[in-house]
Amino acid sequence: MNQLNNPTAQAVDNVLIYIFGFSLILLLGITAVTIYFVVKYRRSKYPEPTSQVEGSWLLESIWTVLPIIIVMTMFWYGWTNYVGLREIPAGAMEVKATARMWSWVFEYPDGRKESKLYVPVNKPVKVQLYSADVLHSFFVPAFRIKRDTVPDIESYVWFQATEPGSYDIFCAEYCGVGHADMTTSIEVLSEEEFAEWSQSPQSSGDPRGLVVLNEQGCIGCHSLDGSENIGPTLFELAGNPRQIEKDGKTLEITIDEDYLKRAIRDPEAEITKGFDPMMPAYDEETISKEDLQAVVDYLLGKVAPVELSGGKLLAENGCISCHSMDGSEEIAPTFMGIGERQVTVERDGKEVTLKVDAEYLRRALLEPDAEMVKGFAPMMPAVDYLSEEEIDAIINYLLKQ
Ligand code: CUA
Repeated sequence: MNQLNNPTAQAVDNVLIYIFGFSLILLLGITAVTIYFVVKYRRSKYPEPTSQVEGSWLLESIWTVLPIIIVMTMFWYGWTNYVGLREIPAGAMEVKATARMWSWVFEYPDGRKESKLYVPVNKPVKVQLYSADVLHSFFVPAFRIKRDTVPDIESYVWFQATEPGSYDIFCAEYCGVGHADMTTSIEVLSEEEFAEWSQSPQSSGDPRGLVVLNEQGCIGCHSLDGSENIGPTLFELAGNPRQIEKDGKTLEITIDEDYLKRAIRDPEAEITKGFDPMMPAYDEETISKEDLQAVVDYLLGKVAPVELSGGKLLAENGCISCHSMDGSEEIAPTFMGIGERQVTVERDGKEVTLKVDAEYLRRALLEPDAEMVKGFAPMMPAVDYLSEEEIDAIINYLLKQ
């Protein structure tokens, strides 16, 4: 659970508690008094009015002035906290966020672009909001910030994280079929991690074309693995035939460089059969000439695929926080020397000793609870969310340890 003691969340929560608390007290108080009087002065007991009171200046003043004070404090408290949400603290870091159907792009002052918002902990961050097409809304529940992004209007929000972690970002304005998938996150890093991140070359060695596809959010609609999504997949395009609709006619074309460039710059001109025209055009300002070439080269397979690194996958997926690389075994078996050892596991209630091989590692990754290594508790989640290739890369890496 992420901490919610950050300034914007506290400002909003305090006002909410104040207004809700007063409302609750008044609701319960008035209801209780009403019920009490209804019962006490019911007609069967007092058929005639019992009170001769004509009026009371004191009472009327109290029940006029008191509620005015209460609602004015609600207003004052709400207003000052709202102003706090709009006033950026000094020394804030600025990031530009652009919403488009259906992804977010975050641009840093040095020109770096990311699909997640990386920020340092304990530093105010101003997020300038833009939309490239329609209405979207930048919503981060953990910081209680939500603001529409409106085409041609610039807006902003700010927040300050007090705990490292990952915080959801949603689009909170219905913006078309991909709306529900328009999610990403704020990754709050410690100061050292952030410094390291901002100095590291972007993209960890991914080919430029793939970086652009990620940055621009293309893979929110177009899969890279052959599965059909909102848009056609980008898997194995080169030289394949494709049915397109152009000027009301259906044509069959062969996918090549020119076609792909047209499909990015002017997607509405030729629509792939079976799909709706909904992709925004990417002009030179959004994807430069060089980047367009990089994307097309990547899509046509002219770039050597990046070799999956098993070591990197283990780190990214948090495996090495339980499995050490240095031989220490606190929570789980170490990875050191795993490729050349025998393990004793408990399978169906029996103890079995076996040599670690690719088959065993695959079972241990996909069904960790089926064979428990002796002396360890079953607590590892199955990593069945990884792809076949990623699992193979991890196995190959482990066997060499
Ligand atoms: Cu963007 Cu909903």
